[in-house]
Amino acid sequence: MRPLQGTMKVGSEGHLWVGGCDTTQLAQKYGTPLFVYDEAYLRERIREFHAAFKATGVSYEVAYAAKAFCTIAMCQLADQEGCALDVVSGGELYTALQAGVDPGRIHMHGNNKTRAELEYAVSSGVSVIVVDNFAEFALLNDVATTFRRQVDVLLRIAPGVEAHTHEYISTGQQDSKFGFDLESGQARRALEVVGDYDALRCRGLHSHIGSQIFDSQGFEAAISRLAELYAYGTSLGLVFDVLNVGGGFGIRYTEEDDPAPIASSIQGIVHKVKDSFAALSLEMPSIWIEPGRSVVGPAAVTLYTAGSQKAIPGVRNYVSIDGGMTDNPRLALYGAKYEAMLANRASDEAAEAWSIAGKCCESGDMVIWDAPLPRPQMGDVVAVFDTGAYNYSMASNYNRIPRPAVVFVRDGRSGIVVERETYEDVVRLDRPLSYDEENAAASSAMTAR
Ligand code: LLP
Repeated sequence: MRPLQGTMKVGSEGHLWVGGCDTTQLAQKYGTPLFVYDEAYLRERIREFHAAFKATGVSYEVAYAAKAFCTIAMCQLADQEGCALDVVSGGELYTALQAGVDPGRIHMHGNNKTRAELEYAVSSGVSVIVVDNFAEFALLNDVATTFRRQVDVLLRIAPGVEAHTHEYISTGQQDSKFGFDLESGQARRALEVVGDYDALRCRGLHSHIGSQIFDSQGFEAAISRLAELYAYGTSLGLVFDVLNVGGGFGIRYTEEDDPAPIASSIQGIVHKVKDSFAALSLEMPSIWIEPGRSVVGPAAVTLYTAGSQKAIPGVRNYVSIDGGMTDNPRLALYGAKYEAMLANRASDEAAEAWSIAGKCCESGDMVIWDAPLPRPQMGDVVAVFDTGAYNYSMASNYNRIPRPAVVFVRDGRSGIVVERETYEDVVRLDRPLSYDEENAAASSAMTAR
């Protein structure tokens, strides 16, 4: 059996338990598909980041990357655990503010922030805006001037290092829609011009080199390059105090994944910043990170109800569930791999391979290929692990399937944090066929001419 994480355990009756709750009862109470987040484990994962930094004694900030799972309850939890929040859109900013997060603890990202989003961020008083490109300088400066605000910014740099899982490539990332490119000199040019924008105060540099990274090598390669750029910025008279190295810390989805412990990744990052900055006689910056997946990914399990089956002799067994790519699009999008168990028969031997299919009208709507499971029965509760990151946040209404509910569990109690959508919700923004009469009148006047 796979290692059970957080507060998960298998009870003596053979059921999967999380947060002191029997998942089969949760499935009954709230229906399926259901996202179940282990609150204690969420908090523990955030605390690991804090503890790792505290052990090094450096100034730091952990900003939870809300895109991984952005709901009011999650923003509140991250805030309670001492995280800042990284948001990438007006909608995420709105969610964080609705959660009561102090805007002075929110960072705003995005490669194409609209004027309206910048106005919203500036007027709310967010802590920093991460400027992504040259066009944004003038736009943001104009917005800040209109609101008579001085806005703190970081510059997003594409450092020419791309990291995914355990490998990193030193040139790949140049071709990216994000950030000022280092290789071609754009990043230096950005530092040379940022001082021309009176309403902006540049506090330092940001980079994010990828996601699902298993060690700190890629971060370290990026840090060397960023340190030199940081030195160039200070030589131009800019007063920097922040180096933000982004998120991307990997998690274990299956036994193929072997991520370094959080503590050792943070240690690697901190050492590299210390060395690179000392070598250039720079003062130590505050080190900021933006973990998303590593905070929420392993803390959730999705519960489904098993439905129809199809066994193709000598080929494959399929079991269909009542969700799929609408609540977990990651296999369809990235070929992502997950592990599963039958939550109501957790002690039964996983004797056969069953591919877990979604219910959408699409052959690619699969959640797991060939999962080792006991032979499923209709009505079994299928638990898919590590679904907490980028699933609810990327969920859709394809086939007009309502989005699932989300519950948090802790100490034997469960609480709903996102309601299940209803069919009414699905058509809430639809309008019956009708036309704008005003426009029709103008158009027929044109035709008559
Ligand atoms: N900071 C920035 C600027 C980012 O772009 C991202 C993720 C993060 C932080 C958080 O990265 P994390 O720690 O979660 O790896 N939908 C994809 C992942 C997209 C990641 C986008 N940026 C997936 O499901 O794997």
